Amino acid sequence: MALAIALAWMLPLVFHGAWRLALAQGVAAALWSGVLRQPYWWAPIHLLFLPAAIALLTLQLPSWLYLLVVLLLALVFWGTVKGDVPLFLSSPAVADALAAIVDRENAGTFADLGAGVGSVAVPLAQRLAIKVDAWEYAPLPWLITAWRCRKLPNADVKRDSLWGCDLGSYDVVFAFLSPVVMEKLGGKVRREMHPGSLFVSSSFPVPDWQPESVVQIEDRRGVKLFCYRVVTTQQKK
Ligand SMILES: C[S@@+](CC[C@H](N)C(=O)[O-])C[C@H]1O[C@@H](n2cnc3c(N)ncnc32)[C@H](O)[C@@H]1O
Repeated sequence: MALAIALAWMLPLVFHGAWRLALAQGVAAALWSGVLRQPYWWAPIHLLFLPAAIALLTLQLPSWLYLLVVLLLALVFWGTVKGDVPLFLSSPAVADALAAIVDRENAGTFADLGAGVGSVAVPLAQRLAIKVDAWEYAPLPWLITAWRCRKLPNADVKRDSLWGCDLGSYDVVFAFLSPVVMEKLGGKVRREMHPGSLFVSSSFPVPDWQPESVVQIEDRRGVKLFCYRVVTTQQKK
């Protein structure tokens, strides 16, 4: 922004008007993001943020609409602002693979840590005669999952943080969270899950742990399921 204002001051004939300034700011921010080695997908966000804001202002939408969108986003991406895991959905292929794993394990109890809108918990509770417990703390995804499970007596959807739950009674525990929490989650799994049970993490391995198997899913994202057998002694290698 400072660079764009400086350019407008130095070259008033070239950089005048809100649009040119916004574009100059976007280009400068995108280039700076490259210099800072941010992930590549930040570049278009930086580039388009201010022009998009100006374009929306020209539409003269009522201000309550912006408030509504912010509220909706807050209800979906509950803790994301303070760095918690955002909502991404597992594909039906992931749910199929998990159903096969639960079946093979002969599991009677399954936990979904951070259930989102129930992309995994719902099909598993529908298809298998097992007890499915799902934790989701973001209000809107929780509501959607709870609604989808309303006629499934074997499913229990809890509006609580996954960090407060006790994993001791589950044969299979599933999580699709973020690399940032995997070490902490590994500690919880190790402390609480019973020997012989299985912890499955979608996309993100537990640092320094050796998976018993890695299931490659043939979906659009090419997801990997990292399966860790819980043993009495340490899993760390
Ligand atoms: C990447 S999504 C996965 C959703 C779902 N399990 C799936 O595979 O489609 C992660 C979910 O975990 C939820 N979440 C993140 N931190 C949580 C926490 N501490 N307690 C409960 N849910 C949490 C988020 O709100 C989000 O819905």
